[in-house]
Order: sequence, then structure tokens, then C-alpha cells
Amino acid sequence: MKQTILVTGGTGFIGSHTSVELIEAGYNVVIVDNLSNSKIEVLDGIEKITGTRPAFEQVDLRDFEATKNVFLKYPDIEGIIHFAASKAVGESVQEPLMYYRNNVVSLLNLLELMPQYNVKGLIFSSSCTVYGQPNPENLPVTEEAPHQKATSPYGNTKEINEQIILDYIHSGANIKSIVLRYFNPIGAHSSAHPSALIGELPNGVPNNLIPYVTQTAMGIRKELTIFGNDYNTPDGTCIRDYIYVVDLAKAHVAAMARVLDQDTDKIEYFNIGTGHGNSTLEIVETFEHATKVKVNWKYGPRREGDIEKIWGDCSKANSILGWKADTPLSDVLLSAWKWQEKLRADGVM
Ligand code: UD1
Repeated sequence: MKQTILVTGGTGFIGSHTSVELIEAGYNVVIVDNLSNSKIEVLDGIEKITGTRPAFEQVDLRDFEATKNVFLKYPDIEGIIHFAASKAVGESVQEPLMYYRNNVVSLLNLLELMPQYNVKGLIFSSSCTVYGQPNPENLPVTEEAPHQKATSPYGNTKEINEQIILDYIHSGANIKSIVLRYFNPIGAHSSAHPSALIGELPNGVPNNLIPYVTQTAMGIRKELTIFGNDYNTPDGTCIRDYIYVVDLAKAHVAAMARVLDQDTDKIEYFNIGTGHGNSTLEIVETFEHATKVKVNWKYGPRREGDIEKIWGDCSKANSILGWKADTPLSDVLLSAWKWQEKLRADGVM
């Protein structure tokens, strides 16, 4: 029988791609989202790609009763993938209480309800942000690397949430969890059928690099600023581990199968990245090469709070989850550009 998975934040960027992969792997998917940073039309995209429309509930997970009603309505839910969260670093500095309430209360509500409704497994979306700037000898960073104090309330919510899950499991709660620490997810689902696409839809001026690159290439933004070229890296720009969102989505399917169907530790941690780093400049140049579209860019000052360089040692996920991110960067950047072209064709931006 198909297992039913609750995907919170399932109409968002990573949530929608993961819903596609879950459906294609044979799971029933129930999406919960408050649509605060995503659109209901994403469900059409998921349906076009998979041929299945996931169940959807517009619920705010801060609302305990409304969240409880989801478990009453779908008593077969066995696992949860918890994406729903606010994620803009700068905004979190301006609105810390909103970030703590959104990102912490939602998790508390889900954890409290899991044993009551016999939900066994939780996959949690964490971030490499918990490592801060690793010492150079710790690169690529493993899951054992020391954590560093978060530089923003957003980053802090990831650290706190990891701790809450650990404490709850230590208390003897009858659940299991896999914590996935993502590096930098980018790109969009590629489909032979251009109407069947899902992707990243930032609100307003993007903070993240790739939407800024694609919007500049489209002429929506005048110029990309590369933040800093005096870092201690080969070309002076920052280095990140950019992972294709579809590869990332597949890691969740592997993690869900492990947490639900295998006899494993009650909590496990995995880095989810490609295992290598690319500089900001390399990203821009690879984008131009892959798409044959020029990006207007200049160097600017460093961005406050930026990490100089980080990339992940993902061998634990490779061997234990039997999963690997192997989509070439140029294909990934091309997928991001196709998505931007679709947004233009649809008149979105
Ligand atoms: C940021 C967060 C991270 C979070 C992630 C969510 C910080 C310090 N980290 O990651 O915690 O999980 O977003 O998506 O904010 N860049 C430019 N010009 C731009 C935009 C970005 O040069 O206009 C550079 C940045 O300096 C950085 C790289 O591109 O070196 C990637 O930036 P971004 O996409 O914002 O991700 P992170 O900062 O790595």
C-alpha cells in the first residue's frame, strides 16, 4: 500500500520539487502550506509533471487546532517532511519574533501531534548555516564539524529546531528523525513540456544569487553585484556548494524510505550537497556559457554576514542514503534560466 507523507511548505521551492519526487516514487502526498510565500498554481505544475494532484490544505502550522485537523482528516500520514519556514536572512534580523514564531512554533506543534497520530518519521530541512564559517582544515565540512553561533535569527531557528528534535527524541518520544543540512539549492525542474514547470519565485528583489542572476539576464534587474572580490579564495569571490533542487528533492525520498522502513538510529544527520564548491564568479560565467546570455555584473563591497567559503563532505549521504547529486552545473543553471523564461512567457515577471 502507498505510504502517505505530509509535506509542509509543499508549494514552496524545495517542497514542490520534493512533492514531485515523492509522487513519482509512489507515495501519497498531502501538502500543507499557508501560501505566505508561494502560489496555489504550483499544484497545477506538480499535477502536470506527475499526472497526480496532491491533496492540499491551506493551513498555518502555528495554529495547533488547524494542524491537528490535518491529522484527523488524513489518518494515514506516516511521515512528515517539514519545509514550511521563513527563510530570508535579512528579514529575520528585522522581524526576529516573527521568525521565531513561524519557524519554532510550527515544529513544536508537529512534534506534539506526531505520536498522538502515530506519525513515525520526520525529515527536517536544516542548513549548512549551522556550521558558520568552518576552519579551512575542516573543508569540505562533515556532519561532525563544530557548530557556530548563528549570525541571524533565521540561522538560529535552524540550530534551535535541530536541538528541539534531538531533545524530544531523547525524552523517549516515539518518533524518528533525519535532519538534512542543505547547502545552496538552485535550479528548477526541467520538463520537455514547458508548461509543466515549477521553480523558485522570490518575492520582490531577490536576495539569493541565482534568481538575481536570471532576473538580470532577463533585464528585470539592471546589474548583478558580486559581493566582494577580496576573499581568500582563488578568484577572490565567495565559494558555495550549489546543489540542483531536483537532486536535493531525491535525497528526501531516500531519507523518508530510510526513516520509515529501516531499523536505524532515532536521529541521524546528513549533509546534502554536491561535495564541491564553486565561486560566485564561476557561477556567473558558467551561466553565461550554458545559456549564451550575457549577465551585466560588477564587483561591489562584501555583504555583511557572508561566509567566505563552504562546501560539504556528502559522503555519508552518498553511502548510507545511496544518493548522489550528479547533475552538471551547466544543466542546473540552464534549468534556472528556462524557469525564468517561463515566468516571462506567463507574464509573471
Ligand atoms: C543564504 C543564507 C543561508 C540560507 C540561504 C537560503 C547568509 C549568510 N546565508 O545563503 O543561511 O540557508 O541563503 O537560501 O545569508 N551573491 C552575490 N550577489 C548577489 C547575491 C548573492 O554576489 O546579489 C553571493 C553571496 O555573497 C554568496 C553567494 O552569492 O557568496 C550565494 O549567496 P546566496 O544565494 O544569498 O546564499 P548564501 O548566502 O550562501
